Amino acid sequence: MNVPHTTLTKKIFIALTGLFLSFFLIIHLAGNLQLLLPEQVAHTQFNSYSHLLSGNPVIKLVSYVLYIAIFYHAFDALMLTIGNWRANDGNYDKDARGEVSSWISRNMGILGSVIFLFLVIHFKDYWYIYKFGETAVDAKGNKDLYIIVIESFKQLWYVVLYVIAMVILGLHLWHGIRSAFTTLGLYHEKYIKLVRYISCLFTFIVSLGFAIIPIVIYLDSK
Ligand code: HEM
Repeated sequence: MNVPHTTLTKKIFIALTGLFLSFFLIIHLAGNLQLLLPEQVAHTQFNSYSHLLSGNPVIKLVSYVLYIAIFYHAFDALMLTIGNWRANDGNYDKDARGEVSSWISRNMGILGSVIFLFLVIHFKDYWYIYKFGETAVDAKGNKDLYIIVIESFKQLWYVVLYVIAMVILGLHLWHGIRSAFTTLGLYHEKYIKLVRYISCLFTFIVSLGFAIIPIVIYLDSK
């Protein structure tokens, strides 16, 4: 009796943290789109924005909640995936689930692991350098995060890495948001179409929005 309860609790937790992380993505995307403004504006504006965020105690608190949410979302999802593999002896060919569930839904664990790997690289290259590395300062005396990001996207391989990661993020979000609504019991027949529409639109805006940034910066640098 204890097992289904644990699984359900995990699924609810994954759904709630997933929706919170999705909300963060919209805010993060809006902030990062400033990178595409004309260079003179974008340079100081992006650095001032990053400085404002890193100095604000409320934002700092939200950031800690964010790190915990990333950790728990990944950890619970990993436990759930391992549990599912064990229940099926690691062999999905044995059952007929391919007929009723999509490839994406059966591989959410793998897609999530790739996104986690992307985040490790992302944190190392931006977050860590910004917080703990030696950075130049701009005309206003703020750490020059703008230059760090722009320089990184001048490399084609790095742009390709980001675009691939955004496609994988898109697949993960597309199924994840629908699934979260189902788990939380908000997937009423009346609203199925609306939930599908919202998850598609959200996925499209977020993955395309993030993918466009490195592409535009790269093409601008040529
Ligand atoms: C073009 C795409 C992206 C760019 C240019 C970008 C840029 C940045 C930069 C410059 C930082 C460091 C800023 C700071 O720590 O204050 C950062 C932090 C972060 N990014 Fe991104 N990012 C992108 C996409 C993503 C995606 C797709 C995710 C999630 C899947 C993500 C998750 C995060 C997280 C969790 C942080 C740490 C935030 C915090 O400390 O509060 N980013 N990003």
